[in-house]
Amino acid sequence: MKIDIIAGARPNFMKISPIIRQLEAYNRQKEKPFFEYRLVHTGQHYDRNMSQSFFEELQIPEPDINLGAGSGTQASQTAQIMIGYEQAIQEWKPDLCIVVGDVNSTLACAIVAKKAEVKVAHVEGGIRSGDWSMPEEINRTVTDSITDYFFTTSETANKHLLASGHTSDQIFFVGNTMIDSLMSHLEKLRKPSFFDDRIGDKPYLVLTLHRPSNVDSADQLARLLELINTAARDFVVLFPMHPRTRKMYDTLGRTFSNLEIVDPLSYLEFIYVVKHSRGVVTDSGGITEEASVMNIPCITLRDSTERPETITLGTNELVADQTKLSGFIHQMIAGEWKQAQQIPLWDGIAAERIVDILSTMNLNGRN
Ligand code: UD1
Repeated sequence: MKIDIIAGARPNFMKISPIIRQLEAYNRQKEKPFFEYRLVHTGQHYDRNMSQSFFEELQIPEPDINLGAGSGTQASQTAQIMIGYEQAIQEWKPDLCIVVGDVNSTLACAIVAKKAEVKVAHVEGGIRSGDWSMPEEINRTVTDSITDYFFTTSETANKHLLASGHTSDQIFFVGNTMIDSLMSHLEKLRKPSFFDDRIGDKPYLVLTLHRPSNVDSADQLARLLELINTAARDFVVLFPMHPRTRKMYDTLGRTFSNLEIVDPLSYLEFIYVVKHSRGVVTDSGGITEEASVMNIPCITLRDSTERPETITLGTNELVADQTKLSGFIHQMIAGEWKQAQQIPLWDGIAAERIVDILSTMNLNGRN
């Protein structure tokens, strides 16, 4: 079976790593490899600390192809990826294209594959926030509308897919490959080099922000940082700053006394700082999953989530109303927070389930 595996942006890399490891493990059991695969990096993220460091730490092989799409507006980035992948898919004609998550690379490659009559599998298919102001919601909904096989992380995702007309034989509830990566690296976490000097024994929070609605307006970003800075009282707020946020932050021309701003961290460093923190304040989706599994309190600065299980079973709270943010941060600092429960199938072996299912599929009459 010939498979293209697509990855482009930071949150994709921890989702594909366990799948590749399992494909390799499956091949090793066979006399001749059953799976042939190409790893296609779209180049959506290209800075070392947004991409290469993840490949090294998660031991992802060098991509077979790098489309070098880079940054741009929503349309131009998506278009660059589509143009590059169209050529790449014609050169090899895979049986299956695996896309993960909800970034522009996911959407772009799913469209190209489907038009080239290549079957599409979507890992993390079916999740929905209902918030159409987020490009990710458009990406995941359009991707799912043309996906052939869904590997889902929750029963809620399964319900969304069935409600939109997909059939149960297309849907495989396998768990969460991002949690596979988390669980297999918990013993190997890395303390960042600045940690002892800048954090030491002090209790601290972790902050991440990159959503356009929070960071693309200078006023909004300044207001949010001011609020968090004040609410944190004597806690340090460790803030690994996304490049998108850095661009706007540099225009503010001011500082915030509690914020410890650092460059984006590598995977093992980021999980380390979250695991040792009192809590996380974020606008990311993936981090709410990681925090929930590690039982670390988490505030999400949004009014909706496509990952409801992080709220009902995990440690996540949605705080859209910024007048309530201080109260939640005070609770977090005081250690008064709900405890996480086990989330179904987030048990570290989702990729194994995916590869078992792939091994039984008969695509285009050949496998
Ligand atoms: C993308 C994803 C988002 C994901 C996030 C994680 C989409 C629509 N959004 O958002 O779902 O949560 O990645 O990071 O796909 N930049 C750099 N260096 C890099 C990458 C980006 O400087 O390595 C800059 C770009 O120049 C651009 C900005 O960051 O100005 C945004 O990058 P982009 O990939 O468009 O979106 P993200 O905000 O990272």
